[in-house]
Amino acid sequence: MKIPILGTGLSGLVGTRVMELLEYKYDFTDLSFKTGVDITDYDQVFNVCDGSAAKTILHMAAKTDVDGCEDDKMLGEDGPAYMVNVEGTKNIVNTAKKLNLRVIYISTDFVFDGTKDFYTEEDEPNPVNWYGYTKREGEMTVVGADISHAVVRLSYPYRSSFDERTDFVRRIMEKMAKGEKLLSLTDHIFTPTFIDDIAGALDMLIEREFQSIFHVVGSQNLTPYEATGMIAKTFNLKGKYEKVTRQAYFAGRAFRPCRLALKNDKITKLGAKMRRFDEGLMEMKKQLALL
Ligand SMILES: NC(=O)c1ccc[n+]([C@@H]2O[C@H](COP(=O)([O-])OP(=O)(O)OC[C@H]3O[C@@H](n4cnc5c(N)ncnc54)[C@H](OP(=O)(O)O)[C@@H]3O)[C@@H](O)[C@H]2O)c1
Repeated sequence: MKIPILGTGLSGLVGTRVMELLEYKYDFTDLSFKTGVDITDYDQVFNVCDGSAAKTILHMAAKTDVDGCEDDKMLGEDGPAYMVNVEGTKNIVNTAKKLNLRVIYISTDFVFDGTKDFYTEEDEPNPVNWYGYTKREGEMTVVGADISHAVVRLSYPYRSSFDERTDFVRRIMEKMAKGEKLLSLTDHIFTPTFIDDIAGALDMLIEREFQSIFHVVGSQNLTPYEATGMIAKTFNLKGKYEKVTRQAYFAGRAFRPCRLALKNDKITKLGAKMRRFDEGLMEMKKQLALL
């Protein structure tokens, strides 16, 4: 018999793949616009959860567009980013409190300011843009509530295919395939994460009830310029890519943390398999060959 589970954000880049990989084991109840649930409406959230046999809510829904969130900043607590990422999370948490549900809250590396060489779960967040700020508020809402919870920080998720939304790997592949000019950062460090590995780690966190924060991220920190070279090599793409600095690349856009080398020792020691970027790309190549 499948395990019932409640989920938000199941139609997103991460959520659709997590569901695809785990639905052999879990029976997902989708809290989304499609099923008549706007998470900013407490009653809509509560009514669906109240009728479910699930013991866990996997909360992935968010406003994720970093520049779009920055535009919301001037609207403050009335803006969509705050409403979805903070008020929406409060509605999930308050529902969980009432119904005694465990919450697994999906967060982001963007809660950090990027001033340290690397980040563990012990490091203090200090978001530098509105998206990061609202996601950090979401984290604190979950951690501060008297409920069973895990906070799961992701970083630059990518997957083999998803027509509805692209990710940085497929964006680079598309541009290279079309021969479009590509600018690639040399003064930024990030931690790309294969979404299939996120699904495996979440499976473990749903089953084993750790009360903690986890960096569920890939096992390689690198610059986007290095990542672009690896993508080109893996997929045998000949497109040109040029070096660019953060200052030029992000001009006029939301400020981004520049050094996001997250450590994943905590989750890998528990047995989660988090691939390096080169390994993730090789798995992507295998999966694409099967499509
Ligand atoms: N993508 C990244 O680069 C990244 C990096 C680090 C962390 N994360 C975190 O990972 C999680 C998943 O990200 P993602 O990239 O998969 O997101 P995504 O593709 O942008 O999808 C967002 C999801 O949230 C849902 N949603 C938004 N507003 C909602 C509302 N008011 N009520 C109900 N559902 C709502 C969307 O539903 P509809 O499809 O119906 O609009 C969609 O399912 C997020 O919490 C994000 O902060 C993402």
